[in-house]
Amino acid sequence: MLEQKILDIKKQAIEEIGKAADSKKLFDLKVKYLGRKSEFTEILKGLKDLAVEEKRKIGQLANEVKKEIEQELDKAERNLRAKSFDLSKEKIDITIPGHKKKIGHLNILTQTQNEIEDLFTSMGFEIADGPEVELEYYNFDALNMPKDHPARDMWDTYWIKGKSNKEGIVLRTHTSPVQMRYMEKHQPPLMIIVPGKCFRREATDAKHEHTFYQFEALVVGKDINIGNFKYVGEQFFSKFFKKDIKVRLRPSYFPFTEPSFEFDISCTVCGGKGCRTCENIGWLEIGGCGMVNQAVFEAAGYKRNAWQGFAWGFGIERLAMMKYKISEIRLFNSGDLRFIKQF
Ligand code: PHE
Repeated sequence: MLEQKILDIKKQAIEEIGKAADSKKLFDLKVKYLGRKSEFTEILKGLKDLAVEEKRKIGQLANEVKKEIEQELDKAERNLRAKSFDLSKEKIDITIPGHKKKIGHLNILTQTQNEIEDLFTSMGFEIADGPEVELEYYNFDALNMPKDHPARDMWDTYWIKGKSNKEGIVLRTHTSPVQMRYMEKHQPPLMIIVPGKCFRREATDAKHEHTFYQFEALVVGKDINIGNFKYVGEQFFSKFFKKDIKVRLRPSYFPFTEPSFEFDISCTVCGGKGCRTCENIGWLEIGGCGMVNQAVFEAAGYKRNAWQGFAWGFGIERLAMMKYKISEIRLFNSGDLRFIKQF
């Protein structure tokens, strides 16, 4: 009796599976015939009440039938999938452009610094480095500015409070201290640039930041002169702005250079004719420079008058602003993506 019932279930199941039109229907049939609440499961649960001999026979049959129904379900599922496979729909158009993943990139300031480094290394310069938190000695004294020298007022300085007052500590106000650090360890001839962060205790505005980047240049040799200096400047700026740039020096003062100059370049917009960018002067101010003061060489341990050299300290933001026509220095560190993504 039970045997017949199992065979009936099997027959009915196979018949219905054969007619199923989709996977959803197959799933429902699986639940109906093999699920926890199915007739079949009920029968299996009832096996325990049967005589041993019966139990074995019916049990075996039930298991076989269960396997058969499962196989039928699998087969039907596979058939359905094969039938519904539509090659034209499956085709992938590999010519459709993909979605580009958004990735970050270097800030325009870093890009500019990298470009400056590349241009100078291609001219044979080395790149040097020094601490941003600097001893008063390197930031001032060694650069021919002893304590109470009035020229120290040219730099609004952040002083760091230390435990002892023996050695003053500052956030470096320029990259010039690295001149001294480098010369203490190296003998001329030498050609270096020093890109790096500087700090000044000033109110910020569109052209001034308390934290900014400079790159120092220092070239020392037997007979380095102002002609070499102008030439290197012209070469660099012409490559950097990708047009012919002329250089002009105006008298200035720094304790660590003698003579000292302000460094101007011909206007990058009008080429010197006069326009809005250069306020009709034809020249743009770049920064301070000069021939290295012999007192600085002495402090570095070189013999007085044995060497000649030139040095400058230019603002990297300023150059980037000229090149990319950026009108506000504070944008570089603003984190404003509308600005950052333009470059
Ligand atoms: N260190 C000077 C400044 O920051 C610039 C400078 C560098 C001038 C080297 C002369 C020589 O203002």
